[in-house]
Amino acid sequence: MEMKTVPVSLGPRSYDVRIGRGLIETAAEHVGPLLRRPKVVVVTDENVAATQLPALRASLNAAGIAVEALILPAGEGTKSWPHFTRTVEWLLEQKVERRDIVIALGGGVIGDLAGFAAAVLRRGVRFVQIPTSLLAMVDSSVGGKTGINTAQGKNLVGAFHQPALVLADIGALDTLPEREFRAGYGEVVKYGLLGDATFFEWLETNGPQIRSSDDLRLDAVAHALGMKAAIVARDETEEGERALLNLGHTFCHALEKATGYSDRLLHGEGVAIGCLMAADLSRKLGLLGQEAPSRIAAHLRGMGMKASLSDIAGELPDAQALLALMGQDKKVVDGRLRFILMNAIGDAFIADDVPAAAVIEVLEGR
Ligand code: GLY
Repeated sequence: MEMKTVPVSLGPRSYDVRIGRGLIETAAEHVGPLLRRPKVVVVTDENVAATQLPALRASLNAAGIAVEALILPAGEGTKSWPHFTRTVEWLLEQKVERRDIVIALGGGVIGDLAGFAAAVLRRGVRFVQIPTSLLAMVDSSVGGKTGINTAQGKNLVGAFHQPALVLADIGALDTLPEREFRAGYGEVVKYGLLGDATFFEWLETNGPQIRSSDDLRLDAVAHALGMKAAIVARDETEEGERALLNLGHTFCHALEKATGYSDRLLHGEGVAIGCLMAADLSRKLGLLGQEAPSRIAAHLRGMGMKASLSDIAGELPDAQALLALMGQDKKVVDGRLRFILMNAIGDAFIADDVPAAAVIEVLEGR
């Protein structure tokens, strides 16, 4: 099938994102040219090791490339100091050198963890992202944010370390559980909302078919990645515009904290609810009419996604307590909460000093 390439233009750190079906089965063609010796190390998780590692290994081995793999437990708990230490020590045991390549094969957890390990190992070795979840494909595998969670919060320890290549094999999504696919879709919708009303409209029409149609899947992933690549190229280290990619994330992080980073709420589900709340907040501040939040909610509901707090199983803290949870978020600038708001669907901007009362009303109303 057709392969699309999205270049990420960052001077000497530039790289390609290749998107298509079958890229894992043909990985040697893509990774081989980056290697200085016929050996790679792969960091993955138990689930992905069962579904994707055999094909990756077969492709590389057939090209004479030796493969060693570290298989970590699946789940957010792996993005932690103990597994980070274990990964770095394993990479050292494998005698990975500065000129070698580490492959991160998995979702956002594996990409962030393995990328961070690659960033610190011998002061930085190259790595290739092979994202296997929709969320990792359209967001976390591109742009070089790597890191782990700590007791103080999510992603508070990490580094900017750009991959040398990203292979987004949309075939890997075939085995992704339906709930995770939908959660990843939350990040896809985010792109339409933050910067491209036409893309949002396209998703309203085509979103329900993305799971079953390769062509639509390819178009959706490539479009989202094209937007991300352009933003990252303009603002690699999030001095400004890149913060737009955090649309919905301040709400999301509070909800994730409140649900203990558990199965009650997946990150992408929180992003979708958070985007809707950002629209609610924008409406409350007089920036948007009521039709925009209603339209976003209708699309999320039509996709079978969570769209309000009552869709999250179990009890949640009250609005005041949720607001307090936002205070620990790393997007706080000088002690003030920052939100990404919308002037319209497809036109987001960064706002500081949003009144807490409006945030409370949004939390109470959804
Ligand atoms: N996930 C947001 C970013 O890459 O900046």
